[in-house]
Amino acid sequence: MQVTYLGHGCISVSINNKTLLIDPFITGNPLAKHINIEELKVNYILITHAHQDHILDVEAIAKRTEAKIISNYEIVMHYIAKGFIGHPMNHGGNCVFDEINIKYVNAIHTSSFPDGSYGGQPGGFVITHNNKSIYVAGDTAVTFDMKLIPMQTKLNLAILPIGDNFTMGIEDAIIAADFVECDKILGCHYDTFPPIEIDEKVAVQKFKTSNKELILLDIGKSIFI
Ligand code: NI
Ligand code: MN
Repeated sequence: MQVTYLGHGCISVSINNKTLLIDPFITGNPLAKHINIEELKVNYILITHAHQDHILDVEAIAKRTEAKIISNYEIVMHYIAKGFIGHPMNHGGNCVFDEINIKYVNAIHTSSFPDGSYGGQPGGFVITHNNKSIYVAGDTAVTFDMKLIPMQTKLNLAILPIGDNFTMGIEDAIIAADFVECDKILGCHYDTFPPIEIDEKVAVQKFKTSNKELILLDIGKSIFI
């Protein structure tokens, strides 16, 4: 699996020849000006919740690529009504797409669309292929529900928000890493706006003190799992 950080909560995961794009917010991110959404190869767009900073580029990318939109029922129906292709899920459900198992899991957050309309309940995803699994937490607080994940799935990577204010901050993300039993963390949802700016060195050191690795990628850079 190739995991690429595209800024804020936007991650792309490439498995075999298929690419899942999670929470595209690129054209609105001043830190991601070097990423061209016209060049992204995308087969599936996964959306954790309906906030603007997670859906901004969904329509432009889905229109060009005809990617299938995967999210909760309300979000997917919103896009199907606009003529896009979608597959609705809900919390606790699994579905397999091109041999990639996707599970929609709980998150503690909110999920309104930018116009205030209902975006269902927010979630995260567990993505599994060939005995390798990634947890994409989405925007969330730390929650005991995270302990359910390692009961079924041994994670190779957890992608956690660390910017505080709207989501977990560093200390709570360290607890979340314990809950999901994963010591390899990719941080996201930080530095995009002033309320979520972090000191990267301090963040990495705090995880290290808890015997965990916090990876902070430059936007556009990848790791392989
Ligand atoms: Ni949000
Ligand atoms: Mn957000």
